[in-house]
Amino acid sequence: KKIAIAMGGYSNEYKISLNSGNLVYKQIDTTIYEAYRAHILEEGWFVVTDDEQKHPIDKADFSITINGEKIIFDCVFNIIHGTPGEDGIFQGYLEMLNIPQTACDYYQAALTFNKRDCISILKAYGIKTATNYFLNKGDEILEDEIIDRVGLPCFVKANKAGSSFGVSKVKRKEDLMEAIHFSFQEDEEVIIESFLDGTEVSVGVIEYNNEIVALPVTEIISENEFFDYEAKYLGQSQEITPANISEKDTRSVQEQAKRIFKILKLKGLTRAEFIFYNNEPHFVEINTCPGLSEASILPQQAKAAGITLKDLFSNVIEAALK
Ligand code: DAL
Ligand code: MG
Repeated sequence: KKIAIAMGGYSNEYKISLNSGNLVYKQIDTTIYEAYRAHILEEGWFVVTDDEQKHPIDKADFSITINGEKIIFDCVFNIIHGTPGEDGIFQGYLEMLNIPQTACDYYQAALTFNKRDCISILKAYGIKTATNYFLNKGDEILEDEIIDRVGLPCFVKANKAGSSFGVSKVKRKEDLMEAIHFSFQEDEEVIIESFLDGTEVSVGVIEYNNEIVALPVTEIISENEFFDYEAKYLGQSQEITPANISEKDTRSVQEQAKRIFKILKLKGLTRAEFIFYNNEPHFVEINTCPGLSEASILPQQAKAAGITLKDLFSNVIEAALK
């Protein structure tokens, strides 16, 4: 089977995605699959072969031609973080071409990548979250109303972004405006959330051997004000797997994560974030193309569960091909 590992994307996260894609390329089972690194970048779409040659991708059928031979892919391993791979656009395109891909479908992707919409739906299912305030670009910014609702400190986030781009923690009212404008540089919608002072955990939920499985929980201790870009990728955090929480809390957050996976009808590899507040896990967000770089959390969780990356990747590809 010919597998295109789609990596890159058009967002600030493209470098992380290239790292994720390269790890998939390194670990994919080459006794079963013929893998190709498909770069989906603003500058163009092309496959990079081991001789570092770039072969343009024909967008009409997502094929490449090498030495006169046309290669059509049987499956796309989608590990693009952010747009267009984590928000459903690429999924919709592949669906029209009848090419299976490993991440969740277009609507699920669009929904989960929109923090505001995802939180709103999960709240309706009784899932606990922080208190939120939503803003569209151009809305009047009522600072007092915002602070009355969410309190201080609070988090100001770009609604559709990843890897903490466009996120700040605000401790003083006079810093709120600047944080909001900073987030608006990343997206035309901003969400503001109350600060939940508690243990932050991350839970991988995956489809594995046709079952929905929660991986060991990771506790995140950031040396920075929050789990920002530097903490995520430059080692300025401790990620402890399995988390230093009770068995009861572990089970409760794993059950919660699996429930969310089912409510949202996800597939493939996902990773949900929660904060324990008042002894209960509060949902923060879910990533449907989670980082798979050497520094990322999901590979650590798979390892702790005794699942090799080779096995994990074969499993998702086979599920997509079904
Ligand atoms: N958005 C990053 C890649 C993650 O969730 O791991
Ligand atoms: Mg994220």
